[in-house]
Amino acid sequence: MTDPRDRLGRPIRDLRISLLDQCNFRCPYCMPATEYHADYQFLSRRERLTHDEILRLARIAVGLGVTKLRLTGGEPLLDKKVVGLVSRLAAIEGVDDFALTTNGMLLAPLAQDLAAAGLRRITVSLDSMDEDVFRAMSGSRGELGQVLEGIAAAERAGLRPIKINTVVQRGVNDHTLLDLLDHFRGSGHIVRLIEYMDVGNRNNWRYEQVIPSREILKLIHERWPLRPVDPRYQGEVARRYKYLDGQGEIGFITSVTEPFCGSCSRARLSADGVLYTCLFAATGTSLREPLRSGASDEDLADLLTRVWLARSDRYSEERRVQRPSEQVINKVEMYRVGG
Ligand code: GTP
Ligand code: 5AD
Ligand code: SF4
Ligand code: SF4
Repeated sequence: MTDPRDRLGRPIRDLRISLLDQCNFRCPYCMPATEYHADYQFLSRRERLTHDEILRLARIAVGLGVTKLRLTGGEPLLDKKVVGLVSRLAAIEGVDDFALTTNGMLLAPLAQDLAAAGLRRITVSLDSMDEDVFRAMSGSRGELGQVLEGIAAAERAGLRPIKINTVVQRGVNDHTLLDLLDHFRGSGHIVRLIEYMDVGNRNNWRYEQVIPSREILKLIHERWPLRPVDPRYQGEVARRYKYLDGQGEIGFITSVTEPFCGSCSRARLSADGVLYTCLFAATGTSLREPLRSGASDEDLADLLTRVWLARSDRYSEERRVQRPSEQVINKVEMYRVGG
């Protein structure tokens, strides 16, 4: 079967591939350093999918209707052979969008090669332009200047439009948001403000730390008036706005206060080959086992199709009406399935 629909009628369009579960940052909202210390056991090389295996699964997913690929992590640029994988994925016929999400630290020397290998665009996570706030939000690992050099290199390499992902945490970086927006106004880069989400179980998420996007929108609108613009494509996660003075576009990702599960066509593949059909899933389906025990492309396509047909995930919509005791307790961690 091509183009399967899940139980809520949603097609599969977007495959997000986590290349590895390691990261050179320790953002407290994602991989708090107290949990992810020097002795933490990340996946071994043998446990991770090889590039050949990733490529094979991506091809099969494209055969089922996927048109958009994104490489994530952890930090995907820690994979020393990432450029080679990019060029092989870029060559798959039927992929019309191909992006990578990175924290930007290792981007500057790689941007040109990534672009030459066929990557179309890049998304850089950047939470503040205040050196101290930035550093704290990277778990004392990031250098703001180096990330900005990465963004500049990506721009020169033509990896546009560059998106800047900013997680908003009340009391942590909210006082630095207008400066960050000001920095990127007129640059052509699109800042997207993300509501702090309850992904995983280890970041000690509290609702009090979420600032509803609508509140921030009001604040920004008072400084630089905005107008809403239509989604660029069906199922787009971010709500888009443009500055009335022509200085560019921003977006809001409102997963907590205004969920967008209705049009969610995203599947996620972890570095150890587990297919997850929701960012907040507790379990997934291992594709690595069949891959390594001789399954044919048809077998794998059947398995993927079955998983997709059975899908009924809408965690963010359900979260709003659930009592805490009913919520999924063993959610997969974000760094394992990418953003
Ligand atoms: P574009 O392709 O550039 O439109 O980006 P995207 O929105 O598909 O992907 P990106 O990785 O840039 O997503 C930005 C952030 O939105 C992620 O890091 C997550 O925090 C959040 N996000 C993305 N997809 C989902 C989703 O399916 N569910 C929820 N709840 N949040 C998501
Ligand atoms: N809430 C919202 N966004 C998050 N990210 C990581 N953890 C969270 C969270 N708890 C974002 C990162 C990055 C993307 C991959 O996901 O900042 O931009
Ligand atoms: Fe690493 Fe991104 Fe998680 Fe930060 S949010 S720890 S950069 S994977
Ligand atoms: Fe998709 Fe799950 Fe996010 Fe809803 S909560 S948008 S179903 S990934």
